[in-house]
Amino acid sequence: MCGIVGYIGKRNAYPILIKGLKRLEYRGYDSAGVALISDQQALNVYKTKGKVSELETFVAEKDISGTIGIAHTRWATHGEPSPANAHPHYSSSARLALIHNGIIENYAVLKEKLQSKGYTFKSSTDTEVLVQLIEYIQDKRNIDLLAAVQLALREVIGAYAIAVLDRDHPDVVIAARKSSPLVVGIGEDEFFLASDATPIVEYTDKVVYLAEEEIAVLRRGEPLKIVNLHNVECEHEIQTVALNLGQLEKGGYPHFMLKEIYEQPDCIRDCMRGRINVENTNVVLSAIIDYKERLLAAKRFVIVACGTSWHAALIGKQLIETFCRIPVEVEYASEFRYRDPVIGSNDVVIAISQSGETADTLAAVELAKSRGAFIYGICNSVGSSIPRATHTGSYIHVGPEIGVASTKAFTGQVTVLTMLALTLAREKRSIDEERFLATVQELNRIPDKMKEVLKLNDTIAELAKIFTYAHNFIYLGRGFAYPVALEGALKLKEISYIHAEGYPAAEMKHGPIALVDTEMPVVVIATRNDLYEKVLSNIQEIKARKGKVIALVTEGDTVISKIADTCIELPETIECLDPLITTLPLQLLAYHVAVCKGMNVDQPRNLAKSVTVE
Ligand code: M6R
Repeated sequence: MCGIVGYIGKRNAYPILIKGLKRLEYRGYDSAGVALISDQQALNVYKTKGKVSELETFVAEKDISGTIGIAHTRWATHGEPSPANAHPHYSSSARLALIHNGIIENYAVLKEKLQSKGYTFKSSTDTEVLVQLIEYIQDKRNIDLLAAVQLALREVIGAYAIAVLDRDHPDVVIAARKSSPLVVGIGEDEFFLASDATPIVEYTDKVVYLAEEEIAVLRRGEPLKIVNLHNVECEHEIQTVALNLGQLEKGGYPHFMLKEIYEQPDCIRDCMRGRINVENTNVVLSAIIDYKERLLAAKRFVIVACGTSWHAALIGKQLIETFCRIPVEVEYASEFRYRDPVIGSNDVVIAISQSGETADTLAAVELAKSRGAFIYGICNSVGSSIPRATHTGSYIHVGPEIGVASTKAFTGQVTVLTMLALTLAREKRSIDEERFLATVQELNRIPDKMKEVLKLNDTIAELAKIFTYAHNFIYLGRGFAYPVALEGALKLKEISYIHAEGYPAAEMKHGPIALVDTEMPVVVIATRNDLYEKVLSNIQEIKARKGKVIALVTEGDTVISKIADTCIELPETIECLDPLITTLPLQLLAYHVAVCKGMNVDQPRNLAKSVTVE
């Protein structure tokens, strides 16, 4: 779960590599490094602990010349964050330098073999083993870098996206991938390389996504060549990416997270564009129509996901069960993949992932596919691994999400799940026309209502100041609001490091209510719906124990405002769409608490945006 960048061409590589690393810092930021073959043919490697900005300071006085280079931003797996464990890693002779995203599972066996041949290691990483192995093979057999990489990767068990430089051959970068993403950008007499397209789009929109076990040979003056581990040339398709630079920058906001929270009204419009008709009378997800026989023949749906995407899945379950009357199970992908699940050709598995690269979700997809299930993906990152592994699916089209805390991806996922449930329900005739129309029309009004919610930003920023020093938080909701409570708690804990728990409101009295005292803020989602009276009772139970209640209520609510300590009034909507409204103030609350605490909102400690290791 690291970011890798590479360049070969006529320009100075260093500025391109540093800018690329900054775009990929969401993937990890424990340490960073760069390798350049200088104008004097030296292979220079510079690396530091910490963020890319620290690397920039470190190299200030160094030789950063060269038109070929590779760079890395790390999220530590093997070995603590330190300069020694940072990438790139030199081979023993310092002739090769290599960067790696992934995990070499059999690194210990390979390391022992190399140690027995006299190799010594400077780091505790699995990556250094790979670069030493490549050099060992190259020297022993007197073969070129490509052949040595092919032989080395045939010995490797695990996941990798790598790029290698050879000081003695300054006209070529060799890059390869298995289970970790890698994209090649094709410019005029130049190539770019990155973990995703974001470092590349500034220079070219022509990209090739490497497939499993493919090796790219980026050689000056020659067209892109892709081969497999056995040196058989592979066909490749040059795709055009539709990202623009504005989408990758903060655009005047202090943090990506705030920008992404504010983008939600437009993102949800983009997500619905072309799917809801202009009259607002129909919604069609084309993949559902294309595969309707297969989907309607399913005995049950199983949704696999992690983190925030798992919370969206819980809402998806309620939507599909309510509208389609199909049983739905929601599974953590990491649990599903290792517990020999009962899954087969009667099942549809929906995989939800913003990045499309989450290792556990991808593995769950592969497992379900191998057992004959039909796989539907709901992803954001176009061309990523999960959409490519699924039978069909729908993109959420909310644009790149850079902040580690997921915001617009969540509301995009819920929007797609709503459209999926509506499209399928109409095909199945399990929803009456009046309800169908009312839901489609209200869905279309959601972006405007989100804009209303965002006007509460200043109020929520003030509220956050009061709770900045809280040590614990409880979030409560019922029905469609329960996953929102989980999501609100996750947002707070991941960026402010305050302990927070989400609970179904009625579960409180089965244990957690013991935690409630005058110090305990309890956020309750208490908007008007069928469970309103029940939630009201739950609030009274908390107030009776002197908890501090922050209630999200529907505009004009006069009952809860008399009981709760603070009320946030939100526009009214129908119950199944309420998560698209109630999530926003919880995102803002988490954001402002974290800002008040002086935390690094976009890059919280210990986390990375895309979890490509298990
Ligand atoms: O890219 P994915 O949606 O598969 O990622 C899943 C989780 O890692 C992700 O949602 C994570 O929980 C976020 N940090 C939450 O804000």
